[in-house]
Amino acid sequence: MSDFAIVGGVPAFAEPVHVGRPNIGDRDRLMERIGGVIDRRWLTNDGPLVHEFEEAVAAVLGASHCIAMCNGTVALEIAIRAAGLRGEVIVSPFTFVATAHALQWQEITPVFCDIDPRTHNIDPRRVEELITPRTTGILPVHVWGRPARRRVVAAGRQARPAAALRRCARLWVLAPRPDGRTARHRRKLTA
Ligand SMILES: Cc1ncc(COP(=O)(O)O)c(C=O)c1O
Repeated sequence: MSDFAIVGGVPAFAEPVHVGRPNIGDRDRLMERIGGVIDRRWLTNDGPLVHEFEEAVAAVLGASHCIAMCNGTVALEIAIRAAGLRGEVIVSPFTFVATAHALQWQEITPVFCDIDPRTHNIDPRRVEELITPRTTGILPVHVWGRPARRRVVAAGRQARPAAALRRCARLWVLAPRPDGRTARHRRKLTA
């Protein structure tokens, strides 16, 4: 513990490394695109860049459709409602607080499951013991871009009615699994 820089240990980096610092990519290209937005004077409501973004994300994910949301919290709330979750949902505590808020605001009780100290993802061995008759889903969070173990989703299929919302760190993938049927069925729902 005393090794941590935050409690007096030697810092591992000369400068602080901020988690989630965005990758700007080609700055000139970015400024050109921002310039295009200003030239078009189309700042909100279904502009051409939103379409371009949705198509690019759908292509990356191999999905037929993608609908951009204004933020991750709203995306989660809509996915939670679309999947018909209610009662209790098992969720990782190692996430931004909005993950639990999105459940609470739908009057669903978030049930926190311990994480695996090696991966920081939800621990599949602890999921099963938290499933109750009120459990309708599992909301794993893929931390650091590392997908949560398949066993978590398998455990989700045992919940009645089962549902596992899969999500990536930046909330791109929200694949409802409302009845725990086959992966083929899930693909159909995501398409
Ligand atoms: C894992 C996770 N869930 C939910 C959110 C909430 O997303 P937003 O701030 O876009 O509503 C964030 C935001 O950082 C997040 O990192």
